[in-house]
Amino acid sequence: MSGFVLVLGSLNVDEVANVRKLPVHGETVTALNYEVHPGGKGANQAVAAARAGAPVRMVGAVGEDSSGHFMQECLEREGIMCSLRMVPAPTGRALILVQVDGENFITLIPGANHEMTTMDIEAGCEGLTSSDLLLMQLELPLEVIRAAACNAKAKGARVVLNAAPAAPDLPLADVDVLVVNENECLQVAGQPADADPLAIAAKLAERHGLTVVVTLGAQGAAYTQDGGVITLPSPEVQAVDTTGAGDTFVGYLATALLDGCSMEDATALAIQSGSLAVTKAGAQPSIPRRSDLSMSSIQQTAGET
Ligand code: RIB
Repeated sequence: MSGFVLVLGSLNVDEVANVRKLPVHGETVTALNYEVHPGGKGANQAVAAARAGAPVRMVGAVGEDSSGHFMQECLEREGIMCSLRMVPAPTGRALILVQVDGENFITLIPGANHEMTTMDIEAGCEGLTSSDLLLMQLELPLEVIRAAACNAKAKGARVVLNAAPAAPDLPLADVDVLVVNENECLQVAGQPADADPLAIAAKLAERHGLTVVVTLGAQGAAYTQDGGVITLPSPEVQAVDTTGAGDTFVGYLATALLDGCSMEDATALAIQSGSLAVTKAGAQPSIPRRSDLSMSSIQQTAGET
């Protein structure tokens, strides 16, 4: 692999409470246990790309607190080169409830992540070339995303945007590959909840001249090609915790694209990695290594296309 993946994104400390059942409006539930993990969509995707085998650099912001140092240490342990600005705001946090079947509720407290500005982009994107890939999510301010995409595109680098959490009116002009789940696809396109996400993905791809990859949870994932949509199945697995599975998918997809894989092969690898991630608890702790995938005994579901 000649280039590197530059992740410009969020870093959060994940505070996780496992519960038998997610609460409904007005209900109080008692946690079965409580854990603290390194997280944040940016950091998770950086770790996924590193465990997939890519050289990775991470640009972001953390607080001048012990959590900021903890986040940096976790990334450096993965061999990730970090350029993290320490800012006078608390390190980002996510409060996560995980139900026994793996479903979750997440509340984000952006903190230092929202202190990133367009002033960080010139230094952050320094050294990017056409051999490299810029990977971003939407836990940083939108103007930062827009400026970075423009900077990277001008240098010929490939730009992959994971539109999570979703937002309307995204700056897509400099994006090559957009990764969304079904809900995010509809929100990005400003479509109602009952619209067909894959039909909308095809329209988004055509309108913006990019490839859209839609994750479909247990059903696998789809990608747009030549005006149509190609769907790939997922292996059948027992879900324990879906937190970070999407980030695992995106980090593996970006690495495979950097490595020159076709969209089909990259999506297939990303599906396999995400499927394995849901079988373990936590975001970063559940991200598989490339060697776990090849040794994995999970079976492709027969008959699905
Ligand atoms: O995608 C999972 C991540 O979303 C968690 O790690 C949490 O920090 C939130 O950003």
